[in-house]
Amino acid sequence: MGTRLEGKVAVIVGAGQSAGETMGNGRATAITFAREGAAVVLVDRDPESLAETARQIDGPAVTQVVADVAADDGPDRIVAAAVDAHGGFDILHNNVGIGAGDGPPHHLTDDGYDLIMDVNLRAMWRTCRAAVPVLRARGGGAIVNISSLAAIAAAGNQAAYKLSKAGVNALTHTLAITNAKHRVRVNAIMPGFIDTPMAVDALARALDTDRDIVAERRAAAVPLGRQGTAWDVANAALFLASDEAAFITGVLLAVDGGQSARIG
Ligand SMILES: NC(=O)c1ccc[n+]([C@@H]2O[C@H](COP(=O)([O-])OP(=O)(O)OC[C@H]3O[C@@H](n4cnc5c(N)ncnc54)[C@H](O)[C@@H]3O)[C@@H](O)[C@H]2O)c1
Repeated sequence: MGTRLEGKVAVIVGAGQSAGETMGNGRATAITFAREGAAVVLVDRDPESLAETARQIDGPAVTQVVADVAADDGPDRIVAAAVDAHGGFDILHNNVGIGAGDGPPHHLTDDGYDLIMDVNLRAMWRTCRAAVPVLRARGGGAIVNISSLAAIAAAGNQAAYKLSKAGVNALTHTLAITNAKHRVRVNAIMPGFIDTPMAVDALARALDTDRDIVAERRAAAVPLGRQGTAWDVANAALFLASDEAAFITGVLLAVDGGQSARIG
């Protein structure tokens, strides 16, 4: 057990994960925050996956909230549950993101566009809107938004995903500026190729090939020569959420093994 988040309450939205052999970003972050002493409020729409994350946490207080963050009452329910459990919170980690139903702009359907934008961007904005008064009342806090390298890189077959994540970057900047005087810091992480089931297994299914082949191709595209793991994302989130990052707000941190350096 570490102490980097001792005394803090952290809400992790999207704390479960898609099924598969490897670890998802939200689950790794929830485990990491708890290991560093935070009381964690775990939120996911999938109760079984949520419970599995809670089971893997061997630490202080764990609260589970089953909620769809994109539902009309989702963000308010999540914030109310965290306030009920702990009287407030210090950290909001927005991990939820989906990509299914996407395509290039000329093939993307209205429904595909609406779903991805609603879940990835609108729901994140609404969650931040609900959380900001609680964080301000606490005298400060940290929001970490999970964006994607797709926000700044070519992503031809992911028109809605790219747009939504570019929106996450813009939202992060706006929130950082409007909350700085309240000492609420707002940063984003742009993961590159991370070896999670949602990314690798889904791509393997779409290409009708083996996950190892997809994993190998992705690793070869990364300057550091490997895909990232969910722990790489979790460690970056831990830093941004902790007081070690007290002078950092409005940053879009690439966790990508050098991919963005190659883009320029
Ligand atoms: N894996 C990568 O290579 C990669 C790269 C860039 C960005 N990201 C981002 O990282 C984040 C997590 O990715 P992951 O691969 O770990 O995904 P994941 O699917 O394993 O985890 C996401 C979790 O969010 C939950 N969720 C989805 N919609 C929800 C909703 N409406 N309400 C509540 N919960 C909901 C899912 O049930 C799941 O437990 C996403 O934002 C994704 O865009 C991933």
